[in-house]
Amino acid sequence: MTQALRAKAPPAVLTDDEFHRLGELLYDRSGLVFGPPKRRLLDSRVARRMAAVGVDTGAAYLDILLSPHQGPGELLELLDAVTTHETSFFRNRPQLNAFRQYVLAPLVDRQRASSHPRLRIWSAGCSSGEEPYSLAMLVLEVLGDDAPRWDVRIFGTDLARSVIEKARHGEYGRYSFRGTPAYYVQKYFDVQGPDRFRVTDGPRRLVTFDLLNFQDEVGMARMQGFHVVFCRNALIYFDRPAKKRFVAHFYRSLVPGGHLFIGHSESLHGVSDAFKLIHFPGALAYQKPQAHDVTEHTHGT
Ligand SMILES: C[S@@+](CC[C@H](N)C(=O)[O-])C[C@H]1O[C@@H](n2cnc3c(N)ncnc32)[C@H](O)[C@@H]1O
Repeated sequence: MTQALRAKAPPAVLTDDEFHRLGELLYDRSGLVFGPPKRRLLDSRVARRMAAVGVDTGAAYLDILLSPHQGPGELLELLDAVTTHETSFFRNRPQLNAFRQYVLAPLVDRQRASSHPRLRIWSAGCSSGEEPYSLAMLVLEVLGDDAPRWDVRIFGTDLARSVIEKARHGEYGRYSFRGTPAYYVQKYFDVQGPDRFRVTDGPRRLVTFDLLNFQDEVGMARMQGFHVVFCRNALIYFDRPAKKRFVAHFYRSLVPGGHLFIGHSESLHGVSDAFKLIHFPGALAYQKPQAHDVTEHTHGT
């Protein structure tokens, strides 16, 4: 590195010890791992938060994080600032096509005859809502004219307040639509301005957003009875013990035969062997065994 480049690097805000303590605190409260490669990121986000709360040393900032009064709120702000919220409508189309064709359509067919047909879907780590709204649009497409008869709830949860607020507002710029078929943009969005598009009431009515940290055992245990869970592009940020805990929650939250979709570059290898791996054309999903599959498995071992 040249002298000039070295001179431009901002001074570290956190000492080695403070970085270590903060990493442990964040891991304890969120499962997120902040090792040495993330040090510069953490340093710059902490510098911003220190300016926001009006302290000028890492030690004073840690004191705030640990204080019973200000700590919980400030920790939420910091977690919001250090998490990656990258997302878009219809992200990973092959996976969503597989969901629609091989999971949603058969599920709808099975439930159609019921007097109270219902669908429960959870988008865990939903960021600013593009994923659960895309799922809502696919549900509306599959239900067609029958939609008003159905009890559909799609839950979008995330640990970051800023993205949950944006999701509830439901208004997006062009960048959120990269890769989105024009059909959906025309059918399910109202144009608010040259670069502003608002989700229409149809999908909005199906989706509920809430703050939920995967590390919140009580909150996670409350998420029950889902036919499908999406947790895409979030598990990569956790170490194996945290992934195991979170995926065990997703397993318990599913009905027997329910499906889990994770990011296309993610895997449950070494994390859980409770699911059946299902190969759809262009996508993989994990299925919670039906009750009789479990019995067969138990008898066979
Ligand atoms: C990269 S985004 C993925 C969004 C969407 N699922 C997608 O694939 O487009 C990951 C999201 O996971 C959330 N997240 C990270 N750690 C979390 C935790 N411990 N509990 C809940 N959400 C978390 C982040 O706030 C972020 O919005």
